[in-house]
Amino acid sequence: MQRLNGKETALQIRKELQEKVLIRKELGKKTPHLAAVLVGSDGGSLSYVTAKVKACEEIGFDSTLIRFDENVSEDTLLAKVIELNEDQNIDGFIVQLPLPHHINETKITDTISPNKDVDGFHPMNLGNMMLNLPGFLPATPAGIIELMRRYEIETSGKHCVIIGRSNIVGTPLSMMLSRNSNPGNCTVTLTHSRTKNLKELCLQADILIAAIGRPEFVSADMIKEGAVIIDVGTTRVDDASRERGWRLVGDVNFKDASSKASYITPVPGGVGPMTIASLMMNTLKAMELNGK
Ligand code: GUN
Repeated sequence: MQRLNGKETALQIRKELQEKVLIRKELGKKTPHLAAVLVGSDGGSLSYVTAKVKACEEIGFDSTLIRFDENVSEDTLLAKVIELNEDQNIDGFIVQLPLPHHINETKITDTISPNKDVDGFHPMNLGNMMLNLPGFLPATPAGIIELMRRYEIETSGKHCVIIGRSNIVGTPLSMMLSRNSNPGNCTVTLTHSRTKNLKELCLQADILIAAIGRPEFVSADMIKEGAVIIDVGTTRVDDASRERGWRLVGDVNFKDASSKASYITPVPGGVGPMTIASLMMNTLKAMELNGK
C-alpha cells in the first residue's frame, strides 16, 4: 500500500507557483491576488479559509480576507460580491461554503463573475467543465485529479465508484473522471443516499472515492483488493487526548483500507492540501486569463 501524499504534492505545486510568481515579479508583472469571504465563525470554515490565506502568503500571492458576522444580510453579501467582481486588483475570489440558512447560496455563487470564480462553482464554469471547454475546475475534484496525475495512477477503463453526489465534489468529479482525458476515461458509478446496493458496488471499484462527510463510513468489507482509495472526508471528531479537543477523521476507516488498498490518501494530508493547491493554481490562471 502506498500513501498518496497530498501534503508533499501540494508543497511541490506551491514551489512551482512560487517560482512563477517570482518570475512575474522580476518582469514587473502584477502579483496574483486572491480574496476570501467568510461568513460566521464555524471552526472548520475558519481553518480552511485561514489555510488558503496562509498558502497565498507562502507562495507570494496577495490575499484579502473579508469576514462578516453570521447575521449578515443576503443583500450586503451580494453587494460585496459585486464589489469584488469590479475590483481590478482582485484576480479571483471565493465565498466559503456553507453559508447560513437565510442566505441563498446559489444566488451568491451565480453572482460571482465567471472570470474570477476560482472555486469553479458558477454555472458557466460548471457548463464549460461538462463540455470540456476552458474554465475553472472546482478545486477539490481538480486537486484529486492532479494528485492522480502526479502519482501516475492508471484510470483509463477503470471502474470508479464515487460515494456522494455533492455539487462541490461528487457530481463534478464524476464528469471529470469519465471524460476522454488522462486522468479520465473511467467508467463512473455515482452513488448517493438512495443507492440500494452500495456495498456490492464499492466492492467492484478499482477506484473508490468517498465524499459524504461520515467518519469511517467505508470499512474493509466494502473495498476490493488492490483498489485506489481517495478519502475526501474531513469531519472533526471529539478527542480528549488532543490539546485542541478534536481530530480530523476521513470517510474511510484508514486501518481497514490500508490492508487492502494499493494506494490511499490519508486524512489529514491527502485531499485537503490538494484542494488548496488547485485553488492557488486557479488564481494564477485567473490573472493570466484576464490578461494581466
Ligand atoms: N466548502 C467546502 N469546500 C469548499 C470549497 O472548495 N470552496 C468553498 N468556497 N467552500 C467550500
